[in-house]
Amino acid sequence: MVSYKLIHPEDVHLTEGNRLDDDEDELMSQSEGASLLPRRLPCSVTTALLVIGCLLLLLCGGWLVGTMFWLHRPSNLLPHKHPPPASTKANTSEASSLFGEICALTPETWRFDCYPERGAVVTREMCEARNCCFIASETPPSGRNGIPWCFYPPDFPSYSVKSVNDTSLGQKATLVKDVKTYYPADIMTLELDVRYETDTRLRVRITDPSSSRYEVPISIPTVSKKAEHPDYTVELSRDRFGLIVRRISTGAVLLNTTVAPLLYADQFLQFSTSLPTEFIYGLGEHRSNFLHDVQWNTLTMWARDVPPMEKTNLYGVHPFYLAMEKEKNAHGFFLLNSNAMDVVLQPAPALTWRTIGGILDFYVFLGPEPGTVIEQYLDVIGRPAMPIYWALGYHLCRWGFNSSNSTWEVVKRMRNNGIPQDVQWNDIDYMDRVLDFTYDQTNFATLPAMVKDLHAHDQRYVMVIDAGISSVQTEGTYWPYDDGLKRGVFIKDTEGKTLIGKVWPGLTAYPDFSDNVTHEWWFENLKRFHDQVEFDGLWIDMNEPSNFVDGSTNGCPSNNLDNPPYTPGVLGGLLRAKTVCASAPQKQSTHYNLHSLYGLMEGEASANALRRILGKRPFVISRSTFPSQGMYTGHWLGDNRSQWQDLYTSIAGILTFNLLGIPLVGADICGFSEQPQEELCIRWTQLGAFYPFTRNHNAIDMKPQDPTAFSPLASTAMKKALLLRYSLFPLLYTLFHHAHAKGHTVARPLIFEFPKDTKTYKIDKQFLWGRSLLVTPVLEPAVDFVEGYFPEGLWYDYYTGDAINSTGEDIRLSAPLDKINLHLREGSIIPTQTPNLTLWVSSGQPLHMVSALSENGTACGDLFWDDGESLDTYENNQYAYIVFSVAQQTMTSQVLHNHLEATYITVQSASFYGVKEKPSKVQVNSKDVTFAYRSNKVLTVENLGLKLSQNFTISWN
Ligand code: GLC
Repeated sequence: MVSYKLIHPEDVHLTEGNRLDDDEDELMSQSEGASLLPRRLPCSVTTALLVIGCLLLLLCGGWLVGTMFWLHRPSNLLPHKHPPPASTKANTSEASSLFGEICALTPETWRFDCYPERGAVVTREMCEARNCCFIASETPPSGRNGIPWCFYPPDFPSYSVKSVNDTSLGQKATLVKDVKTYYPADIMTLELDVRYETDTRLRVRITDPSSSRYEVPISIPTVSKKAEHPDYTVELSRDRFGLIVRRISTGAVLLNTTVAPLLYADQFLQFSTSLPTEFIYGLGEHRSNFLHDVQWNTLTMWARDVPPMEKTNLYGVHPFYLAMEKEKNAHGFFLLNSNAMDVVLQPAPALTWRTIGGILDFYVFLGPEPGTVIEQYLDVIGRPAMPIYWALGYHLCRWGFNSSNSTWEVVKRMRNNGIPQDVQWNDIDYMDRVLDFTYDQTNFATLPAMVKDLHAHDQRYVMVIDAGISSVQTEGTYWPYDDGLKRGVFIKDTEGKTLIGKVWPGLTAYPDFSDNVTHEWWFENLKRFHDQVEFDGLWIDMNEPSNFVDGSTNGCPSNNLDNPPYTPGVLGGLLRAKTVCASAPQKQSTHYNLHSLYGLMEGEASANALRRILGKRPFVISRSTFPSQGMYTGHWLGDNRSQWQDLYTSIAGILTFNLLGIPLVGADICGFSEQPQEELCIRWTQLGAFYPFTRNHNAIDMKPQDPTAFSPLASTAMKKALLLRYSLFPLLYTLFHHAHAKGHTVARPLIFEFPKDTKTYKIDKQFLWGRSLLVTPVLEPAVDFVEGYFPEGLWYDYYTGDAINSTGEDIRLSAPLDKINLHLREGSIIPTQTPNLTLWVSSGQPLHMVSALSENGTACGDLFWDDGESLDTYENNQYAYIVFSVAQQTMTSQVLHNHLEATYITVQSASFYGVKEKPSKVQVNSKDVTFAYRSNKVLTVENLGLKLSQNFTISWN
């Protein structure tokens, strides 16, 4: 038997901290999950007896293991490793085998990785050098995506709680440990601050009381009063520090960090928790199904420019998850940390947060509905901005328009074909030698004229701006660089020289958006460019920030920021991969800390600049994102491919970003790289018509894929899908209002509306708009039908009003090539509008109300309306808000808010789905009107001419 190393000399003998005394026994309550065994015993004999007893017990009753581990406390059951004095050989090997047996008692699913270093094939020797358990298993030897071979023993040194004091918001405690771990600069004394912020929100901070550490510079609410009736309890495990958070109403353990040791070194902070469920969502940005896989799934976070692929860190970073508990309540968890990190999901189920800087600052949100969890999360990070109306129109883009005239041609073809389009975009082609804030005066000479023409047609213009600023233009010829240099806005290297990387224009410098001076310089650049080309919105790209050389043209220095003791599983293996050096100092901190905030800070600078230049709601779409981003920008899912698989995964991406507070999100319709087949592009345009942000974008050298580039049949099908979207604008706009005002999702997973129906938990082939409109797209080739799940209740075909009475079942729907299936949920009323070629809100296009009656004949809905573009209309009361309801065969429209004269809008017609019998008469405002009633129980009244700004009723009997 191979002998194992002693934990650490200090750990062998007793200290004040590890003697069993009353204090230490005062763990959490002795109920579920509570420790039944003392943590440290005075001698190895007792330990051995305990081990034998325990082994016997476990052998006699295998069930106990399962049961007790189910209680999330494997460590509680296991006696601790107490190496005997290393005096005799026999004793050593005895202890070693004892240790081995203890290790073997840890079920595979509960093994927490003690050797996460990527690519390291961990050997017994390496593992035992860390005083961890080594058991080789069948799966790959790396802990990243398999059972870890090297894992923490139950008594791996951790912190103990030294003192607990009440504070105005909760408690503060001191955590101490006396044994160093295997990463440098362990912080041996920590401060724990537990804050009962609201009844549904707990915040916990673990900091270094002796020196201040980097904290994420986003603004978050401060609370001055402790929650009076929290929905949760917080228990503290004292001798081996851990926190247990329970939901009071069900007793569900939402967080239990006692399952593995807390590690808190300068560049390695790690804690693990059991999860009460395998249903975990969020944790962006990753390409995956909507429901995450907990089978040893490491999700690394570090903003990165790469075409989306599975198990890779992508453009954005969002350390937030939503969990659906067994009792069908939802909770959320947010780690407010921006350093490179791994999030490890394992099948226990359990989760490990492993970050390489900052502090541990986290929130638990109690929900209990999935939607309220998101509201509570957005209360902390900020709710999304209300988009300018045309943001919700159809956007057309491509990389590879070789001139403004060829761009303009497409716009004209779209108009001639009567296909709706609100916004035309240009990619980097428009620039002079790919320099930001310039345009090619030869090939894009007509750009200013094209933009004027767009405006004359109520259309808008958006162009790309990249993060990197060319650094090699002749002095005096390129203001953005010259002036930026003068003002010192660019990120410098550790020697104080401008850090130079490479992007599209060649060598570039990177604006430091953590500096307000840079914001002003950015504004001035945009203003100067706007004086030449009257753009309406911005596409900010390459802002991870992307760099075609690793680190800089000079590489990166050798130091602990560029080469930290532990590097999470980032693509390329090094933090510098395809970005700038982590050690680069920025105004607010080092790039090491601020890297993943680049897109957020640039987004804020861009949105504020647009507010100043245009005086309207800013439209900005950003590739890199971080929590709070929704306040400034939307997002697109990056460089996808023209493949059916990418069509499908786009739904998960869109739903996830709705959870993350960035509802204005879409994927490149028809796919970015590769050539789409016509059929794929039709199906994608249909699904894309239901992305909250709808843009067709294409890579350079690919054939055109705008709707006019295909056969008449295809382009007619695409036009139909886009007109459908445009007709639903009043609904979509109202949903965005609720996102902005209350933190609701726009594109919504079924689980949000049907949390009691577990069949909805995995669904990511269908989704809802708000609570009522179910979208069932076709996601595969060569079919003219689609299967969709219909939660229990009445659902109406949106187009015909035909009812489906579902018991909660999969239903096969006809889906010819020119149709996307849409169903209205019983009990809902949605406002729709006669579509036009643009969404211009003042056009006065009439409304059509569609009411889908519930079994008992009721329904409700609402409408938010304003001028579509002014800043802060909701905050300044410059809007109309109308609620609709149906009860007792009467529809009522009630104007709750009318601080905007929306008199130019009329309600022209109304349809009622599910009117059981043919009425004998129908009245509008108590006057008889003509009506139509169809055998599928649809009642329709037309030519109403009702003013939206006045209350009205429509009744029948
Ligand atoms: C990046 C963007 C892509 C764009 C290209 C050229 O790859 O993700 O959308 O077309 O750069 O600017």
